[in-house]
Amino acid sequence: MKIYTPDEIKIIAESGKILATVFKQLKQEIKIGVSLKYLDSLAQKITRENGAQPAFLGYRPEGARKPYPASICASLNDVVVHGLPNNYQLKESDVLKIDFGVKYRGFYSDAAFTVELGKIPDEAKNLIKATRAALEEMIRHAKPGNHLGDLGWTVERVAKKFNVSVIKGLTGHGIGKDLHEDPSVYNYGEKGRGMELKPGMVLALEPMLSAGNGEIKQKADDSWATMDGTCSAHFEHTIAIIEKGCEVLTL
Ligand code: MF3
Ligand code: CO
Repeated sequence: MKIYTPDEIKIIAESGKILATVFKQLKQEIKIGVSLKYLDSLAQKITRENGAQPAFLGYRPEGARKPYPASICASLNDVVVHGLPNNYQLKESDVLKIDFGVKYRGFYSDAAFTVELGKIPDEAKNLIKATRAALEEMIRHAKPGNHLGDLGWTVERVAKKFNVSVIKGLTGHGIGKDLHEDPSVYNYGEKGRGMELKPGMVLALEPMLSAGNGEIKQKADDSWATMDGTCSAHFEHTIAIIEKGCEVLTL
C-alpha cells in the first residue's frame, strides 16, 4: 500500500475540502419532493466550479457491469451503496445515503453520509446513530501502531452495542492517487490483527450497517441492497494517518 508525503496529503485535503463544500450545499437542498437527479447535477456543478472533477462519473467499480453514469451515489432505504440518482423524488420517511468522490489535481477523496426525511421509525434512528458512532470510533482508533483489525473490531463492537448488523461484503479502502487502493478496510476484525497503521497511509473509512442480518444482493442497476429489505446506513470519511493519530480530510 502507498505511503503519501505531507505535500501529497495536503492536496488530498484540498480535494476533501471541495467534497465537504459540496456536502454542505447538498444537505441544505435535501428535502421532501426534491429529485435525486437534481442533487446529482448540483454536486457536479459545485465540484467543477471548484476546479475539480466528480470521481465516480465513468468509474467502473469492482463487480459492476458498466461504468457508473452519475456523479453521486444516492441510495435509499434498503439500498446500501451505488444507488443511481434518477428522477425519484424524496418522500416522507426515506433514509437517504449520499456517497461522493472528488478528483482534484490528480488526488481523490471519498465521503458519505446518511439523512432521514421527516419521521422515521426508532429502529432506523438507532441504526443511523450506530453508524455515525462506528465511524467516530474508527477515526479514534486510526493511529500509528494500531492495526487494520482494530478498525473493524471497533465497528463490530459498536454494531453489537446498538443491536444492528455489519453489512457483509462491502469495505472501505486505501485512496489517494486512485479512488480505490489497497488495503481493503473491513468493518469487522480482530484487535491487533492485520496491517499496522503508519503515518502517510490514506484510507476511506466507511462503516455500513443494517437493521437486519447484514446480507446483501446486487440489483439489476448494479446497486447493492440488503437481502432482507431492512434499512441500511453509511457514513464515510477519507483520513490520513499522521504521527499523532489521524487527520480527517473530508471535513
Ligand atoms: N464510494 C464508493 C466506494 O468506495 C465508490 C462508488 S464507485 C461508483 O465503493 F462508481 F459506483 F460510484
Ligand atoms: Co469509498
